[in-house]
Amino acid sequence: MSHNKTLAGRPVISSTGLFTPAETITNEELVDSFNRYVERFNAENADAIAAGDTAALQPSSVEFIEKASGIKARHVMAKEPILDPGTMEPRLPERSNEELSFMAEIGVKAARQALEQAGRDVADVDAVLCAASNMERPYPAMAIEIQQELGIEGFAFDMNVACSSATFGIQTAADYIRSGNAKSVLVVSPEITSGHLNWRDRDSHFIFGDVATAVLVEDAAIAPDTHWDILGTRLKTVFSNNIRNNFGFLNRASPEGEGKADKLFVQEGRKVFKEVVPMVAEMIVTEAERLGIDPQALRRLWLHQANARMNAMILKLAFGEEVGADRAPTVLDRLGNTAAAGAIIALEENHRDMKSGEYGLLCAFGAGYSIGGALLRMM
Ligand code: COA
Repeated sequence: MSHNKTLAGRPVISSTGLFTPAETITNEELVDSFNRYVERFNAENADAIAAGDTAALQPSSVEFIEKASGIKARHVMAKEPILDPGTMEPRLPERSNEELSFMAEIGVKAARQALEQAGRDVADVDAVLCAASNMERPYPAMAIEIQQELGIEGFAFDMNVACSSATFGIQTAADYIRSGNAKSVLVVSPEITSGHLNWRDRDSHFIFGDVATAVLVEDAAIAPDTHWDILGTRLKTVFSNNIRNNFGFLNRASPEGEGKADKLFVQEGRKVFKEVVPMVAEMIVTEAERLGIDPQALRRLWLHQANARMNAMILKLAFGEEVGADRAPTVLDRLGNTAAAGAIIALEENHRDMKSGEYGLLCAFGAGYSIGGALLRMM
């Protein structure tokens, strides 16, 4: 170890970093492209539709998307092919093994920002976790590629707990600090969600956006003066088929299923909404109480950014009243659901006005089901 201080065994978040791809798609652009695809499909299949052999596709609507989700736009890595009704998938040309993979590239950008913000020398970082909803390949781990690119010694690995990945990563990193196994851990969440989103599915084509975040979890003894104390972390999982993606290495062993819609993101949105809301509300209240903090004293709630209505219901259930945007900020209107990165972006963009000693709760949830929480105190 290159520092001289005695470690405290107390985890803090020293800094965060964010990378947002330049290109955006508004709801208007998205719906225009989707509806051109629908018109084309219905025209090409007119006979089968008339004969009752094929169901006609229904158009999407800007009003529905905004009302149902709160999303107005999203950033993506490759706009043009997604909006081309003949493609409707991202196109990211294959890279050689000598080039950085896409996830590592955007993860490194977010990580560099977090390192710079904390004034952290990479020689002091012990580990990198790549915590995201999808992995570009099984191995070598993207985390190790990010580690290599940043010049970090120590160890790195990938972990996937869907939209809760970053919070599970934060607890994992915090446990390394608590146990003395590490003093500085980067939790990087590159989310290229455009790759798993079925852009031809009316029920979900508007949901996701691409982005990368990084969180630097460190021992309090080496942290910069301004940081967040991690007062507690909590994780929970309950099996559910309501958010599912069957893409995987055994797909080639079942060629009859290759290319089917279940090899992309699929959800029963209504059921997810109904089942996850009470689980999250319960965690918010019980986690604050477990740590001896009145839930009403939580100055800020940085929640997972999947659906604005869903967050409003979670907060109403937890606090017994509406909770305003100042206390529970929304970023999904500009960015869509950015999977594991969403709650981290809410934190990154909404803390500068907080006073030393104020509490906030980071809470993410998603497929699994999974929920991860971290109760923070601004210092
Ligand atoms: N444009 C216009 N209408 C649409 C549409 C679209 N793109 N997609 C669906 N509709 C229609 C449906 O056909 C349905 O019509 P009907 O009432 O005539 O049958 C109606 O709108 C309602 O559809 P529904 O799917 O029940 O909408 P919803 O209010 O549940 O909203 C979600 C959909 C996905 C926004 C919402 O369920 C959700 O966000 N759920 C939780 C998601 C979540 O957190 N997932 C975690 C991922 S990490």
